Formats: sequence, structure tokens, C-alpha cells
Amino acid sequence: MSGLPPNRESFGSKFGIVAATAGSAVGLGNIWRYPYVVGENGGAAFIMIYLAIVIAIGIPVMLSELSIGRRAQQNVYGSFRTLAPNRPWYLIGLMGVVAAFMILAFYTVVAGWTLEYLYQSFIGGFHEKSAEELGSMFNSFIGSSSRPLIWFFVFMGLTAFIVVAGVKNGIEKSTKILMPLLFVLLLILIVRSVTLPGAAKGLSFIFKPDFSKITAETFLMALGQAFFSLSIGMGTLITYGSYIQKRDNLATTSLSVVATDTMVAILAGVAIFPAVFAFGIPTGAGPGLAFITLPNIFEQMPGGTVFSVMFFLLLGVAALTSTISVLEVIVAFFVEELKMKRGAATWLATFSVSILGVLCVLSTSELADFKILGKTVFELMEYTTANVLLPLGGFFIVIFVAWFFGRDKAKDELSNNGTLKAHYIPVFLFVIKFIAPLAIAFVFLQGIGLIDLK
Ligand code: PFF
Repeated sequence: MSGLPPNRESFGSKFGIVAATAGSAVGLGNIWRYPYVVGENGGAAFIMIYLAIVIAIGIPVMLSELSIGRRAQQNVYGSFRTLAPNRPWYLIGLMGVVAAFMILAFYTVVAGWTLEYLYQSFIGGFHEKSAEELGSMFNSFIGSSSRPLIWFFVFMGLTAFIVVAGVKNGIEKSTKILMPLLFVLLLILIVRSVTLPGAAKGLSFIFKPDFSKITAETFLMALGQAFFSLSIGMGTLITYGSYIQKRDNLATTSLSVVATDTMVAILAGVAIFPAVFAFGIPTGAGPGLAFITLPNIFEQMPGGTVFSVMFFLLLGVAALTSTISVLEVIVAFFVEELKMKRGAATWLATFSVSILGVLCVLSTSELADFKILGKTVFELMEYTTANVLLPLGGFFIVIFVAWFFGRDKAKDELSNNGTLKAHYIPVFLFVIKFIAPLAIAFVFLQGIGLIDLK
């Protein structure tokens, strides 16, 4: 580990880096959020805009984050402070830590739902239930408070337990086994889903674009989803980048992570929409889509109980490898900036996130009528992080690398001090100087209604 401070951990192998980083990227965003955002925003036309944004903006932001982190060898706040001393850039780092709190609070609520569904799968809770009954089962579950609260705390505890032990042995090892398994299961589900009667309509929903559904808001939703799904815009990848060793290749890492993440998201759509159409569930079913539709599919499958157990287990694990990465952002910040021990930092972070998390849990029950800007606390956390904080963070991150970090340091990081051929660097620099910031600014301002260039 030449060149690394002795107290800092680093990832052990190339595959470990990709497994950990793809573990962060692949999560509920792909399997739970992506399909319902696609459903609410026009299907295939949305997917095409999403892909364009991932390539033009997602990859450059990811490369920028990894470069910042690996160069600075610090948490997200410390990275900006180290690379730009006496400048206000550390505020972007602080914004990342705040975003981590907000994401973890609402994300863990949904992760907790996967545990309830895992439990229900075990006890045969979906057995002989119609689509409607499964819908009301889900609604009454999230409409109560005790069970969702318990599962929330269980999931926070699991996350903390792994983060306390260090990232390497927990996340790196488990994702190497569990991510391929998730993939295999998705493939099995796809086969089942596309062979249901009426499935073709679902496939055309995903693959036939209808551009009449596209509005300025669609671009913002696609941008928000891309940032959320790739775990970019708030320093998770700055933190993970700081654990990448100097000999590893940042470009191939980014490409593998982006390819894995995008493939899993699209495959999740292919697994879910044919079944949605087959069962006549509205495509804009919202956050409940995966929790109502998938049990439905399992009910139709021979051996459905087994598949159901495995699916919710793996969905939970996919979520866990993401929650770990978000908690790590806060823990690394506490350890390095507040000089705390890893154990104390982890439990303090877990405790403080839980306070906000409880408000998110109760957003579908006791606090359902408590609204800020017309949104429940849960909705507010989700909307504000994905559509405001992450794009804003991504904007400043590319501006930082393009205009302040400087061409030479960026080249050093991407070419490993000239030892790797990296012919794409001029294109990358051009994109992060002009295209990415302009595109993010345009989509963001248009989406929140500050400009109207139609
Ligand atoms: N990328 C994760 C997902 O798609 O589920 C969610 C996420 C993880 C967002 C880490 C942001 C983050 F920093």
C-alpha cells in the first residue's frame, strides 16, 4: 500500500473495487426505483433519455469523483479541503455529507420493507393472494408503524455492523458472490415474466418510445435517477475512490460499474413490466410497484416460494451494499474530521440518521398528513436528494475537476502518472469543462421551473 497513510483502508483487488463500487451503484435504485420512475415517466422514451444522460454526464461525473478521492486520500469534505485549501469548495463536501444523511434515512426504510417481504416469503404470506390482495397487504404494512420501524432498525443495525468491521471484509467479499446471483435470479424472473399472457404489451412499453410523454420534468427525473442509481453527486465515489490504490485503473472501473448498473436497471424493467401488463396493474403504480408486482409473479411460478425468498434476500443484500457505501461517507467524515474512532463514528452516524429515518418510516402512517412543500418527509428526502442535491453536487464536482483541480492532475489520475494509455482524456476534459455542467444546469433549472426554454 505504498503512498497511503497507514491508518487508511484500501480495496484489495480490481474485482473487489468493481464489486464494492457496483455494489454501491446496484441497489434499490435499480430494482425498486427505476421501474416505477420509468412507469411514471413514459416508458421507453424515458429509458432513451436516461441512457444518453448516463453516457454523457454519468460517466464523466463518476470519473471526476474517483479522481478527486484517489488524489486526496480523504473523506468527501477532507478531499475538497485538501485539494483546494482556503477555498469554499469544502461546502460541496459538506453538502455530500448532508445528502448522505438524507438518502440513508429514506433508503433504509425501503430496505426494511425488503426484510418484511423476505419474512412473508418464508411464511408463505403471499400464498393464494390475488393482485388486489397483495396490493392491500402492502398498503396495510406500510400504513402501520411498528413493523416498518422494527425492520428499519434491523437494517440500520446490519449496515452499521458491517461498516464497523471495515469495508473490505464485509462489502467486498459479499458482493463478489451476491451480485452475480442477483443477476441470475433476475434472468430467471425475466423468462417467467415475458412468458406470461399479455406480456408483449409490457415489452413494447419498455422498448417502443412514445415521445409525446416527454416534458422538461422527464429530463430532470432521468438526470436524478441516473445520479441516484450510479451513486454519484454526493461523494460516495470520492470516498470509495480514496480507497482505490494508485495502480488501479479508474476508467475501466467506471465503465464496468456503469455497464453493470445500467444493465441491472434495464433487466429489472424487463422483469417487471411484462408482468405489470399481464396483471393489469397501472404502470404508474409508484413506489409499491416492486412489492406488489413481484409477489404476484412468484405466486404464478412453480417453486415461487423459493424464488420469492431468494429474490427478497438478494434485494436486501443489494440494498445493504448500497447503504454501507452511504454510511461510509458519514463515518469517514466523522473519523477524519472529528478524529473519532471508527466504532464511535459508526454508532453516532447510525443514531443520528435514525432520527430522520423514523420520520421517513412514519411518512406512510402516523405522519402521512404531515407535509412540507406538499410532500411527506419520505418523499421530500427522496425528491430533494435525487433531483436537487445530487445534480447540484455533480455540477460542482465536474466544475471543480475541470477548472480548479486542473488538467495535469486529472491526467495523472486517469493515466496513473502516464503509465496507462488514456486517449480519451481530451474528450473527457472537454465534456467536464463544457458539456456536462451546461447539460446539468440546463436540465436542473428547466426541471425546477426556473427557466423555460421550450
Ligand atoms: N445507487 C444506489 C441505488 O441505485 O440503489 C443508491 C445510492 C447509493 C445512492 C449510494 C447514492 C449513494 F451515494
